[in-house]
Amino acid sequence: MKIFGDIKKLESLPPTKTLLMADPKYYEVSYAINVHMIDEKGELKSVDKSGALRQWLNLKREFENHNLKVEVVPAAAGLPDLVFTANQSLSLPGGRVLLSKMKSEQRAPEVEKLKSWYQKQGTINFYQMENIFESMGDLIWYSRKKLFFGGYGFRTDEQALEEMYRVTNIPIIGLKLQMEEFYHLDTCFSVLDEESLAYFPEAFDKQTNEFLKSWFKNIIILDEEEAINNFAGNCYCPDGKNVFLQNGSKKFEKNLRELNFNPVAVDTSEFIKGGGSVFCMKLPLFL
Ligand code: ARG
Repeated sequence: MKIFGDIKKLESLPPTKTLLMADPKYYEVSYAINVHMIDEKGELKSVDKSGALRQWLNLKREFENHNLKVEVVPAAAGLPDLVFTANQSLSLPGGRVLLSKMKSEQRAPEVEKLKSWYQKQGTINFYQMENIFESMGDLIWYSRKKLFFGGYGFRTDEQALEEMYRVTNIPIIGLKLQMEEFYHLDTCFSVLDEESLAYFPEAFDKQTNEFLKSWFKNIIILDEEEAINNFAGNCYCPDGKNVFLQNGSKKFEKNLRELNFNPVAVDTSEFIKGGGSVFCMKLPLFL
C-alpha cells in the first residue's frame, strides 16, 4: 500500500449521470487473459451470443430506468472485450481523457477505438499513459476523500498510479492485489457511499485490511463464493442508494438492505465468462 500524492491537495471528480457502454455484437471468449475465461478442463468458456445481447440490453435499460444516460461505442470485429469499457480510457472533467495502455496485446487495439469515439464527440485533450494502466478496472473513486483507490499487481502497474497522479493531480492510494481471481481492483472492492465499502479481504494484505477498517464506518465482507463466482464485488452504486449487481448474491443483497441500500439485480452471467460484470461494462463520462 502506497499513497501517491498529498491527500489534502484535492481535485474533485463531480458525480456524473452519463455512462459509456460498448455494443456487445462481437463479444465472445476467444482467448484467455484471466482465470474466469477458462473452465475446469482448461477450455475457453462458450458464450451464448444472443443471451449476452439480451443481458447487455437489459443492463443498459436498468441504468436508464435509474436516471442514468448511456452513450454507446460501436462494436468492433475482432475486439470481443471492447464491451468492458471500464478499461480502455478514463474520462475526467474538462473533457480530459487518459488513454490506457492495456496489458494484453489482444486488448491493445481497443484503445484506438475509444480514442476515435471521443474524437467524434469533440474531445481533443488526450493523454496516453506510458505505463500499463487499465483505468477503472483498477481505479475506484472515493468521494469523501476525493481520491482514487488504485489496484496493482496483475494488470495496472504501480508506476502507472504514480504517472496518473502526476498528470491529474488526483491522489491515489495504491492497493496491491494478491489473488488471481481478483485481477482488477473492481472485481473485489466497491465503494458504495462515503461511509460504506464492500470488499473481499483475502484479495489484499494485512496492512491494507487494517487501513481500510479505519477509513470506513460500514464494511460488508463479501462471501467467497458470491465474490468469485458471482462477481458480487463488481457491483456499482451510482447514487448512494441503488446498487446494481449480478443476480444471485443473496448474502450480499441482505447486507446491502441492512444498510438501507437498494439492490438492483441484473443477469450478466455471459459477461462473467469473460471476467467482468456490471462495474466493468460501463465507464462514467465527463464530456
Ligand atoms: N476479459 C477482460 C480482461 O480480462 C475482462 C475485463 C473486465 N473488466 C474489469 N474492469 N474487471 O481484460
